[in-house]
Amino acid sequence: MENAEIVIAITTDQSGIVRYDQKLCADCHSSLSKIGLESSSLGNATDFLENHPPFKVSVLEMSPDQSWDVSRLALSSPDLIESSNLKFPHDVHVSEEGIEGLDSVVVLTCDSCHVAEKGGLSMKPVTMEKHCADCHQLTFDPDAPDRVVPHGSPKDLLQQLEGYYAYEFFQQEGQGQDPQAKVNAYNIERLGEQRDARRPGRRRDRQVINAPMFAQTASNAMTLRAKETIDLRVADAAANLFERQTCTICHEISPQEGDVPWKVLPVKLTDDWMPLAEFSHDSHVSMDCGGCHETETSADAADVLMPDIKNCQECHGGEHSGDLLQSTCITCHKFHLDNQEPMTAQSLVSSKWCACG
Ligand code: HEC
Ligand code: HEC
Ligand code: HEC
Ligand code: HEC
Ligand code: HEC
Ligand code: HEC
Ligand code: HEC
Repeated sequence: MENAEIVIAITTDQSGIVRYDQKLCADCHSSLSKIGLESSSLGNATDFLENHPPFKVSVLEMSPDQSWDVSRLALSSPDLIESSNLKFPHDVHVSEEGIEGLDSVVVLTCDSCHVAEKGGLSMKPVTMEKHCADCHQLTFDPDAPDRVVPHGSPKDLLQQLEGYYAYEFFQQEGQGQDPQAKVNAYNIERLGEQRDARRPGRRRDRQVINAPMFAQTASNAMTLRAKETIDLRVADAAANLFERQTCTICHEISPQEGDVPWKVLPVKLTDDWMPLAEFSHDSHVSMDCGGCHETETSADAADVLMPDIKNCQECHGGEHSGDLLQSTCITCHKFHLDNQEPMTAQSLVSSKWCACG
């Protein structure tokens, strides 16, 4: 009796009698509606080469309350976009001609930013500090190209700027200069000028402006004139950072009410595009990354660069394939999925699940 055979196979895996054949899965997956799943959104599958649905991917989307929802979309869907709130064009960064680096033009390779976790199931996260900061330095004032702000919270950043400009103000005053004159000159010079540079400058000797600077100056009594001057410079530098030059290169930024009038929208990069299957980069190290991910021509982080089933079918066939790698369902899928009812004897023999009426 076929049913009993399945039960034995699955429930006796400690004795080593485990079935790996695709029929085990195909009994149900040949027709999910026949086993009572009228509303299943899953396509049927009986053999990887001959009958398996095209892949879908899980994409994240931020809802208005800024939590993240996952939806499953076909790779061919016109609605398929990645909306991580991070901007990043692969094409210019991985160009064969290279890209301007700290001192010279460098050729970035995929592993400059993507390194597989142990086991190869996913990639280590890409971060600003590790993978972007050398080239994209967070300068804020063209008059002080060697100063940068730390990467992170806009609120802290405004505080750092206040500290920095207060420090500068008292330094200049101490040297007998008139800081207000400098502000006036600065603003006239830049009146109406659109500074939308595509990338801030880079220098080796950059110095992060920091809290001690602030502490040092906080003890100075603030005159009204000092405060006004400092506020002006902070506002100008902040607008420059958030709206024109620096943060906005990589981030989606929206205006908001309050002390900090800019919000950096949360960034969330997908790390599991195909959660229903297991794919290991380690088993495919000999392949070129570009064979599966079309990055060279991607100018927008919104592009989804995941391979479709046709790509895998160049090498992987079904269980009985003659000239391709013989792959059964559990080459790529776990026995069943964690969030599914376990495939116990109970679920298999109940009439609802029985595929062999
Ligand atoms: C007893 C029937 C049965 C057998 C045998 C079976 N499945 Fe399933 N499988 C199901 C049902 C039912 C679902 C859920 C469908 C849904 O939620 O729409 C499912 C879902 C899945 C999914 C999608 C997971 C998800 O969360 O939606 C995958 C992948 C899958 N099965 C793979 C397999 C593989 C591989 C095997 C063989 C090792 C297998 N199944 C054997 C009935 C079965
Ligand atoms: C300078 C760093 C950097 C380099 C170099 C780089 N990437 Fe990326 N990659 C990113 C960032 C940032 C993201 C997330 C934003 C996005 O989706 O574009 C990403 C996302 C991805 C994704 C998943 C997102 C998707 O849309 O499918 C793939 C696949 C990928 N990169 C492949 C590659 C390959 C292949 C190369 C080499 C040709 C490469 N990357 C080189 C930074 C880099
Ligand atoms: C080796 C240096 C280098 C690294 C590393 C680097 N970039 Fe770039 N990036 C550049 C240069 C140079 C440009 C300007 C390219 C151009 O416009 O031709 C640029 C342009 C950009 C742009 C497009 C700006 C525009 O106006 O089109 C974005 C967005 C960006 N980088 C994000 C990132 C992110 C995110 C990372 C890290 C994951 C990163 N970059 C890592 C050098 C680098
Ligand atoms: C060259 C690209 C780049 C620039 C320029 C940049 N960031 Fe980022 N930022 C990133 C990346 C990549 C992440 C996500 C990974 C990480 O945290 O490093 C991020 C994450 C963040 C986060 C966390 C967001 C969240 O909720 O997950 C904040 C806040 C932030 N950045 C603020 C800023 C501010 C403020 C500026 C301008 C001073 C700035 N960033 C400039 C690349 C950049
Ligand atoms: C070479 C690898 C490979 C083999 C072999 C394979 N699959 Fe898949 N399968 C995948 C990948 C990758 C996905 C997409 C994963 C995702 O959507 O998260 C997928 C998706 C699925 C889905 C979800 C379909 C949908 O509509 O979204 C089901 C069900 C499934 N496979 C069942 C099977 C069954 C049953 C077999 C055996 C007859 C099998 N697969 C063989 C790689 C494979
Ligand atoms: C045989 C096809 C194939 C090759 C070759 C390949 N990938 Fe992938 N890659 C995939 C698949 C499939 C996924 C989706 C896996 C998942 O999310 O479950 C993926 C996911 C990714 C992701 C996003 C997931 C994450 O954890 O961030 C990045 C980035 C990535 N690959 C980079 C690379 C790089 C870099 C190389 C070259 C060293 C490479 N890939 C080679 C098929 C491939
Ligand atoms: C150029 C040929 C080639 C392509 C294309 C290819 N694979 Fe493979 N794959 C292999 C080889 C070779 C192995 C190793 C087989 C072995 O070790 O028995 C393998 C192994 C695997 C394994 C088993 C991992 C393990 O070691 O346990 C999975 C899962 C897999 N591939 C999934 C995929 C998916 C999904 C795709 C498409 C996105 C894909 N492969 C595309 C050649 C390929």
